[in-house]
Amino acid sequence: MQPSLSLLRAFEAAARTGSFYEAATELHLSPSAVSHAIRKLEQNLGTALFERDGRRDEGNIGLLHRDRLCAARLVAFATGRAAANLRVDALDALAWFAHTPKLDRVEGRYRDLPNRDERLVQSALDPAITRLLDDPSHAIRNATVQAIKQLHFDAARDRLAQLALDPAQPPTVRAPALGAIFALKSPQTREAVNVALKSDDPRLRAAALTVLAQLDPDKPGTLAILKRVLDGHSIAEQQGALAALTTLKSKDAHALLMTWADRLFAHDVPSPLQLDVLEAVSASKEKPLPQKLKKYLADKPKGDPLAPHIEALEGGDAYEGQIIFNSGQCSQCHTINNNGGNVGPDLSHVASRLPRIKLLESIVYPQGEIAAGYATISVTNKQGDTLTGTVQSETPTEIVLKDTDGQLQKIKTTDIESRTAPSTSMPPMAEILKPREIRDVVEYLSTLK
Ligand code: HEC
Repeated sequence: MQPSLSLLRAFEAAARTGSFYEAATELHLSPSAVSHAIRKLEQNLGTALFERDGRRDEGNIGLLHRDRLCAARLVAFATGRAAANLRVDALDALAWFAHTPKLDRVEGRYRDLPNRDERLVQSALDPAITRLLDDPSHAIRNATVQAIKQLHFDAARDRLAQLALDPAQPPTVRAPALGAIFALKSPQTREAVNVALKSDDPRLRAAALTVLAQLDPDKPGTLAILKRVLDGHSIAEQQGALAALTTLKSKDAHALLMTWADRLFAHDVPSPLQLDVLEAVSASKEKPLPQKLKKYLADKPKGDPLAPHIEALEGGDAYEGQIIFNSGQCSQCHTINNNGGNVGPDLSHVASRLPRIKLLESIVYPQGEIAAGYATISVTNKQGDTLTGTVQSETPTEIVLKDTDGQLQKIKTTDIESRTAPSTSMPPMAEILKPREIRDVVEYLSTLK
């Protein structure tokens, strides 16, 4: 039998408002009439639609069930056949499910959503964990580890510990798993750190250093290891050691940081380590570092829009950069290998077009040099009509604009009364991404030859 329209209406209002009371007010019914209608619908469909709180049967119901359904759908999507970057997004949504950030990740819009119960997402994720951690895509496994960590999902930590210890897993999975089991207080953390410190992979060793510094901040042995690494040649590992150094509080650790700070202020730090030293110095309150840092920042050349971001030029992690790019921050407007939006240019081979410094400039100062065909201007002719579009070509006698409908419009230069300065729709990304993320994205783009 088809459910009647009035039952569906009660269901729709209750699901939307999350409350039988509100649904009743909206439909000019009593709350018990709404509850009754929904019970009838549930019988009709042979399935429970709402979870009711026994004592507040007719009050604030439904939300729980709605959230559970929503979490289950995200898990189903994350384990489904969609493209890996979309599945990563579903895992990301699960990670943030209980405590949704106030600022929308993609649009930056303010949304004040209530917190949800972590256990609800945990139980939805639980049956899928092994499968997700076994996924052939690194990005999926990584996102799963992040979600477990963020959801404080202790029951999953033993499986993570196995992953951190497994030499068959790639470092891109073992490194975050190591960080996660430390955060989850796994008893296997120390064993996993010791194993990772002996690994051949600098990324894994770097992750191990970060965890070690937090496990044993006061042991002289920890500082000795960091010193040795900083005298070495592996960039990833030196970066890890600089980050780890900020966790140590001893005088000797401070003295080591001071020598690196002085090198930074004297412009004597290799480019790929500059951001790490800068961040380590920024994290320190020990005199005289804050004052010296202030002077270093104030002394940067004023007229150069790249100067504040120059430490992000080299030393990034292309793997992380690709994840950031595909998270929608960039791929909503740019295509790489047939994947992404077309608001901006295709970036599949951008590194063969632009040198690294221009890649950085495109990200932090896009209005500087606007890619051909993408500069938007408004032209007003002698009759007072204004036309806005992107400049497709320009000669001394004529400008061709592509208007907002995609039509080409030719304008004779002699007809032009005035024109605006060219602008771009690419936002300056330094307002959205952290310096480290910018460095990773630059590194990733530099691989796109
Ligand atoms: C809202 C859309 C939008 C977003 C988001 C966006 N871009 Fe762009 N981007 C553009 C447009 C439009 C252009 C062309 C105009 C220009 O050069 O500024 C462009 C240009 C570029 C260029 C120069 C390309 C060339 O051929 O000269 C690079 C590199 C670039 N973007 C990278 C990025 C990265 C990396 C991100 C994410 C961190 C990003 N963009 C986010 C719209 C966007």
